[in-house]
Amino acid sequence: MSDDGLEAFDSLSAGKRIDDDANYQWRVAARPVANVVPSDFRWTVTDIPEPRDGEVLLKTHYLGLAPVMRFYMQGTGAAGERALEPGDVIHGRGVAQIVKSRHPDWQEGEMVQGQLGWQTYKVSAMTAQEKFFKMPKNGLPAALGSGVLGMTGLSAHAGLFGCGDPVQGDRMLLSGAAGGVGSMVSQMAAHVVGCEVVGMAGGAEKCAFIRDHGCSQAIDYKSEDIEESLDALMPGGIDLYFDNVGGETLAACLDRLRMHSRIVLCGSISEYMREQPFGLVNYTRLRATESRMQGFFVYNHLHKWERVMDDLAGWIDDGRLQPVQDIEDGFQNMPRALANLYYGRNVGIQCCSVRGEPEHWN
Ligand SMILES: NC(=O)c1ccc[n+]([C@@H]2O[C@H](COP(=O)([O-])OP(=O)(O)OC[C@H]3O[C@@H](n4cnc5c(N)ncnc54)[C@H](OP(=O)(O)O)[C@@H]3O)[C@@H](O)[C@H]2O)c1
Repeated sequence: MSDDGLEAFDSLSAGKRIDDDANYQWRVAARPVANVVPSDFRWTVTDIPEPRDGEVLLKTHYLGLAPVMRFYMQGTGAAGERALEPGDVIHGRGVAQIVKSRHPDWQEGEMVQGQLGWQTYKVSAMTAQEKFFKMPKNGLPAALGSGVLGMTGLSAHAGLFGCGDPVQGDRMLLSGAAGGVGSMVSQMAAHVVGCEVVGMAGGAEKCAFIRDHGCSQAIDYKSEDIEESLDALMPGGIDLYFDNVGGETLAACLDRLRMHSRIVLCGSISEYMREQPFGLVNYTRLRATESRMQGFFVYNHLHKWERVMDDLAGWIDDGRLQPVQDIEDGFQNMPRALANLYYGRNVGIQCCSVRGEPEHWN
């Protein structure tokens, strides 16, 4: 995709800055028709809200970006969040510090992660719907709570281990390998389990990146014939396919399944801009190979949160998981950071630094 559309976001962020005396927000101005464009976003400035009894005031430090956000803006409720109307603050999870508390269970100075929305302050009653978690003091940067040690990390872990049942020696294919979920799945599959991972990504630079992050081989799906490359690199077929893209790639994998193989349906980003969903005509390959295709939805795996975060932090500590977050600097650049995902500009988890690391936290 040409970068012309992405450059249009420069004028949207030009002249916008945040300070600590007001609440800055990005709202839905119009529903995106295809990819997001600058006129879909509206910048507003309001007073900082005051917490009442049972509430806290949160000051945003980092926000994570996810492909699903375009669906919210289009008016589709997804990922456990309600659909947005024009004028609404855009949904987004991130990392914040509690700067005032009138809630018995949440203390001033604590760092948390949860549903903050695209805004620099938020008053919250910390309801279950907002899914807030306290950030563990494990010496790792708070920034990781907006990605690797956040919902993206849980997605990668729940998809790979909860659905994929990987075993050492599995010949695994991974699409979207240079993206947020993908860059974690590749490293966990290769370095924690011992799978032999072939990754797919767009462009030579991303292919070099994935070879350094768990993939022994890479397919540049933008310049190579996918079917020919799969036959060359995985001549015996596929034991495990972790699917981030859907569409033709998923169909090509179904044709190359080994006996008793597994497909994890994580995402289908190649289909998100299509008017009609891609129709699979070769699903009966599952029957012939006695294979399994299973989807998962990260919000159904929240009960695993603490165990998963311990696993991930442990693997970061022992070097098996290198955290890769692509951090856009400045809250004014949130719309461009979202567009990056659909233009394939991010490497690793796309996040935005609103205020950087806090000076102190409990
Ligand atoms: N099931 C769940 O609960 C769950 C949870 C989280 C995420 N997801 C899904 O998992 C997928 C990955 O999510 P993420 O947050 O890690 O995002 P991500 O992979 O970082 O998303 C952006 C990447 O997708 C690739 N891409 C963009 N358009 C594409 C297209 N038309 N065809 C193929 N690839 C395309 C680009 O990489 P290239 O440059 O390599 O093309 C881009 O960098 C998404 O589909 C997301 O919706 C599902």
